[in-house]
Order: sequence, then structure tokens, then C-alpha cells
Amino acid sequence: MTTSVVDEVVARESRYVLQTYKRNPVTLVRGNGVRLYDADGKEYFDLLSGIGVAALGHAHAGLARAVAEQAQTLIHTSNLFYHPYQGQVAERLSQLSGLPRAFICNSGTEANEACLKFARRYWHTKGAPRAEFVALDESFHGRTFGSLSVTSDPHYREPFEPLLPSVKFVTTNDPASLLAAVSTSTAAIIAEPILGEGGIKPLTPAFAAAITEACAKTGALFIADEVQSGMGRTGQPFHFAALGLEPHLVSVGKALGGGVPVGAALIGDEVADTIKYGDHGTTYGGNLLACRAALCVLEELTDRGLMAHVARVGQHVEQRLRAIAAKHRIVKEVRGKGLMWGLDLAQPKLPIVAAGLERGVIVNLTADTVVRLLPPLVITEAEADDALGRLDAALGAVGAGA
Ligand SMILES: Cc1ncc(COP(=O)(O)O)c(C=O)c1O
Repeated sequence: MTTSVVDEVVARESRYVLQTYKRNPVTLVRGNGVRLYDADGKEYFDLLSGIGVAALGHAHAGLARAVAEQAQTLIHTSNLFYHPYQGQVAERLSQLSGLPRAFICNSGTEANEACLKFARRYWHTKGAPRAEFVALDESFHGRTFGSLSVTSDPHYREPFEPLLPSVKFVTTNDPASLLAAVSTSTAAIIAEPILGEGGIKPLTPAFAAAITEACAKTGALFIADEVQSGMGRTGQPFHFAALGLEPHLVSVGKALGGGVPVGAALIGDEVADTIKYGDHGTTYGGNLLACRAALCVLEELTDRGLMAHVARVGQHVEQRLRAIAAKHRIVKEVRGKGLMWGLDLAQPKLPIVAAGLERGVIVNLTADTVVRLLPPLVITEAEADDALGRLDAALGAVGAGA
């Protein structure tokens, strides 16, 4: 493809695609493992994996084979019929999470919608309806009305108000703020065990303990949003377990399909027992194609040792990041676990993404100051070293200009 073809792509999009995304000026056409290639053939190390999605890297042979085979056999039947794979995905998710049942959907926000609805349904069935949700002030749960209602950022919310009226926001990692807000009117607390968009902020053990205490005192349910932090990203299936949390509901998305859109709400028995036929549904959710992709990712994570690989490479990445941070005064803090990392910078909106792209590495800036790294889970130590060397250089360039 020549530059003029790239210009054509941009021109067509700017004419016909609704302008909700401010894209980077790069047209990606091909991938291989942790590498992406633009229309001019330039290579990039992908330290973002399409915002935590391409867990197996790009053009993974097993995933490609499963999807191609399934596309040639049967893609979709609707949930009016059985097929062989949805139960297998649910079974594997249950083994990973300890929550016995799954509702399969298409995205992270849909997984959260399902969790919020199931929490309301639980209280309705008990004959003591509770409307209220308690969420964190730096949280992000998605863009549909329910998920947006429990997302605090006014930039996302304000143009669409009024949202659900019965949501209380508490200060992230402030146990007193949480304990004061949760009451016997609270249907559920919802939180990300590691805040993703909020700047790769793990919940503190004290805050996690406060969630458990608040639920025990009031009966409120706990929804763990593991859309970004789950599916092996931290070197463990889900981060809630590391915090000693026992959620009643867990939302999953992003990496679950390795790039094929699929999400899931995972549901404990107490809540599952209150759900009746017809309470919730989806046309696409859990179709054969999505389930084959999810099974491929789940098999890699568990049967083929990918989760153990993440734990191992994650330690190496942490050491490298701490060494890089020590060199650059603009890096205030390094946070994260496994292959989910944030470098908190001293100044907002620094042009680190552009500096990375120039040097052939893809990262993202979130919460204005945090360089977010969510590489494909298959990244090797050598690949991480090469990519982080480029990030090091980009930080040097940005820091010099700051
Ligand atoms: C923690 C969390 N929850 C929910 C979502 C929404 O997922 P989706 O964009 O697939 O709807 C995201 C997306 O970034 C997320 O990070």
C-alpha cells in the first residue's frame, strides 16, 4: 500500500465513519505475534494488544485455525438451540473463577449490564428490592447506560444524563468512604480489582477487606469487573482472588476471545438461583464462532501454560520497568502486576504515544498521566526487552521536552 492509499483510508473514514474516535495516524494492516505492521510495512512492538484483547498475539495459528474451521462449519444458531461449545466455555470459566455459572455475551459493557441486572433480580426475587449501586470514583465499566451509570468520569457521563439515579460513588481505596456509603439499600458494590482506564491502580488489601466487611454487614452483593484485569492478565486467572475477595458476580471480556468479540458474566449460586428463563438474553452471545475462539484462549491459558508464562515474564517486565523508571524523572510511580502495568508520569497529556510510535512501540496514555502497558500475554522476555528499550527511548525524548 502506498501513502496515497493510507490517505484514502483516512479520507473515507472521515467522510463516512461517525467521528467518535481520535485515531493515531497509523493504518495497521497485519500482525504476527507481538508485532504489528502498518500500510508502509513499518514494524511496531504491540504493548497494548488492542487494549488488552489480543492475548495470544496477532495471527495466532491455533486461534486462526479454530475460527476458520468454525466459519466453514457453522457460525451462529442463536440461543434458541444448543451447540457443543457454549457449555465448554462456561465450564472452563467456572473452573478458573470458582463461580459456577456463566452468561455469555459479546463485550465487557454487556457483561457488566448483565451483572447489574442480575444483582437487581436477586433482590427482586428475595421480595426486598434494592435499587442502589456503589461504585468507585475512578472506575470505568463501559458505555452502555447501566455500565455508564456506574462509571464516574463526567466526560463520559454528562452528555447522556440522566443515567441510573441510584448510584453512589466512593473514593477509590478509601475504606471509610466505602463503609459509609454501603447500606441495606445497596444492591451491589461494583469495582475493578485493578482499575484499568483509571490508571492501573490495584485495590489495596485494606479496601478489599472493606468491601468484604460492607457486604457481610449489609447483604450487598459484590461485582468484580475483571474485564481488563482477568483472563490471566496478572499471571492468575482473576485478580479478585489475590485480594481475598469473593465476588458474587464477575464480568469478563477483552482477552476472552483473543480478538473475537465475546464477554461473560460469571454468577455464584445464590444469584444464579434467582434467575428465571427469559430474564436476560442476547442474539449473538455465545455463538459457535465466539465460543471456539474463547475455548482456544482458555486452553492456551490453562492447558498450555500461558498463565504461568505471564507470571514469569511479568516479573521480568516489572524489573525492567523499575529500572527504566529510575532513569526518568518524569516517571513518578510504577504500578501493576503480571502483564498489566502503568507508569505514572509527573505531567498530564505528554506526547508519549507519538514518541513510542516513532520508535516502533505501541503504548497508550490513560487517566491523563499513566502510560498503560497491556502486551499480548505471549510476549517473551527478549521481545519485552526490545519493546521496553524503545519505550525507554521514547520516555527520554518526552522527558527532555517536558
Ligand atoms: C474494566 C472494564 N470494564 C468494562 C469495559 C468495557 O468493555 P467493552 O469496551 O468491551 O464494552 C472496559 C473497557 O475498557 C474495562 O476496561
